Amino acid sequence: MEKNEENNGKMSFSGIPRLLEIAGVKKILIIASSVYSVISEIFALVIFLVIYLVTVDLLSPPIEWSQIWTYIWIAVIALAGRLILKYISGILSHIAAFNILYELRVSISEHLGSLNMGYFTYHNTGYLKKILNEDVERIELFVAHHIPDLASGIAIPVITIIILFFFDWRLSLATLVPVPLAFFAWSFAFSKNKTEMNRYHRAMENMNSTIIEYVRGMPVIKIFNQTVQSFTRFKSTVYSFRDFCNNWTDRSIGPWAVFFALLGAPLLFILPVGIWLYLGGQLQLPVFILFLIVGLAYMKPIYKLIFVSGLLAQITEGVGRIDAILEQKGLPEPQNPGIPKDYSIEFQDVDFAYDEHQVLHNVDFKIDEGKTFALVGPSGSGKTTIANLTARLWDINKGKILIGGVDIKNIPLNYLMDKIALVFQDVFIFSDTVMENIKMGREDVTEEEIIAVSKAANIHDFITEELPDGYQTLIGESGVHLSGGEKQRISLARAMLKNAPIVILDEATAFADPENEVKIQEAFSKLLKNRTVLIIAHRLFTITDSDEIMVLDEGQIVERGTHEELIENRKLYWEMWGSHNSARKWTFKSTGGDVGV
Ligand SMILES: Nc1ncnc2c1ncn2[C@@H]1O[C@H](COP(=O)(O)OP(=O)(O)O)[C@@H](O)[C@H]1O
Ligand SMILES: [Mg+2]
Repeated sequence: MEKNEENNGKMSFSGIPRLLEIAGVKKILIIASSVYSVISEIFALVIFLVIYLVTVDLLSPPIEWSQIWTYIWIAVIALAGRLILKYISGILSHIAAFNILYELRVSISEHLGSLNMGYFTYHNTGYLKKILNEDVERIELFVAHHIPDLASGIAIPVITIIILFFFDWRLSLATLVPVPLAFFAWSFAFSKNKTEMNRYHRAMENMNSTIIEYVRGMPVIKIFNQTVQSFTRFKSTVYSFRDFCNNWTDRSIGPWAVFFALLGAPLLFILPVGIWLYLGGQLQLPVFILFLIVGLAYMKPIYKLIFVSGLLAQITEGVGRIDAILEQKGLPEPQNPGIPKDYSIEFQDVDFAYDEHQVLHNVDFKIDEGKTFALVGPSGSGKTTIANLTARLWDINKGKILIGGVDIKNIPLNYLMDKIALVFQDVFIFSDTVMENIKMGREDVTEEEIIAVSKAANIHDFITEELPDGYQTLIGESGVHLSGGEKQRISLARAMLKNAPIVILDEATAFADPENEVKIQEAFSKLLKNRTVLIIAHRLFTITDSDEIMVLDEGQIVERGTHEELIENRKLYWEMWGSHNSARKWTFKSTGGDVGV
């Protein structure tokens, strides 16, 4: 991990214990599910015992049919018990898994909110997306399906062997012979495996990012006519991944083959020892038969175990990545916390620099509660920086930022985050249902409220009419793909659900097409009613009726006033307005058919 990550040493566990720790109070569900899974497998063992008892009866006439019927009933009950317990075990583990999924997402998102934005310059959003989606989902799958398997995979072979020892210790030893041999072969196959595994993951990530880059860059590649060169690079990455896999398989195939052959071959040892004992009159035939059946069956959970332990390694890595985020220290909490008396925003002589690079100089303004201020200016002038500073995503170097008269450094972070809704240009959509994407893990909202905000955000009709499963439709990377404008309206619905008194919009309509733009504008006016609003827009006609417009240039406020005042001023705003309007006219002309395509 990067050196900027400070570890406060809070999380000491890894692997399964850490998963249980994450599960918190839901831990009991995981444990119960594992216990049920083990008991359900014990019922399966009962069936083997019944076969043994029936054989004993059949081989010692006169045959007592009533006895045999009793056994059959026991077998039927055991079978039913096994199915029912498996089912219960599955339900419990799924409930636990979903809870973990949402708790992790909520705590990661909350924690990300409290981090200094410096963190995000070292970790790109792709990396964070991957953790929030893939790693968390993998944990969910693992908890839902594999922890119960893991429990029975360990418990059942042990219980089986103990039972077998009661019948005949010599044959039990014979049954056990392949186990140490197999694991010897396994450790041989795996001796170099950890580094190989890492190399494999790196090679795969490398290939994935090349593919994504290739696909994403397609328009640019085509425009600059780079198809052949790009494709060559793409092809060579895929080939080198293939060669790596082939090579690795060639090298490890021998030990693996021995391993699986041994695991599959306990009969090789049971048969000769059994026959020898039986011929010597030291072994009953039913016991011999029992060993033959169980000898075949008891290895099965071990196969599962090996599969699951591979997954566990992946999960442990994912949990490690999640912990690295959670362990990242947030901004310091205030010493003397204060609560704002209203929701005005005030910048007092604020200077700010990213590392060495000074971005804001003496920025000074006040937005009274309930007013709408717009911030405009050339790209790179520091508009997004001002938006981020207001939400205390960074701490400033000089001056003060006040909300309701209280320095934001003295406002508890959770309180601050609760009162500000930020809507950015780049909307993050989780691979989940529309409903969950709007809810964002909040438990305290009803379906009616979600529908209400969706209607207000002008996205309800789209959801119910265009999406196959309405609010339950999967969206995001593994589901239905949404347009930029649709994503934006989802993020507006989110912001409305938050119902925060301060709203900051940073070029939030940038992706909208003309049809969407009208809808988004309508949604905005509902979101912004009676709130303190800072709106950053590059389409100037959307902000003409703001209470005040501030023009930022190279980190300084160079002009401020209403739209009319600024037009009269004939300075930077007036210039921007002019070029903005001619650009709009140009757009109308070209779509109006003057320019043939
Ligand atoms: N995370 C960052 N680290 C370093 N420099 C940054 C960062 N974000 C923005 N900048 C720089 O700060 C300046 C202002 O950026 P920004 O506030 O995004 O401008 P705007 O939103 O007006 O386009 C730019 O020069 C940009 O390169
Ligand atoms: Mg910006």
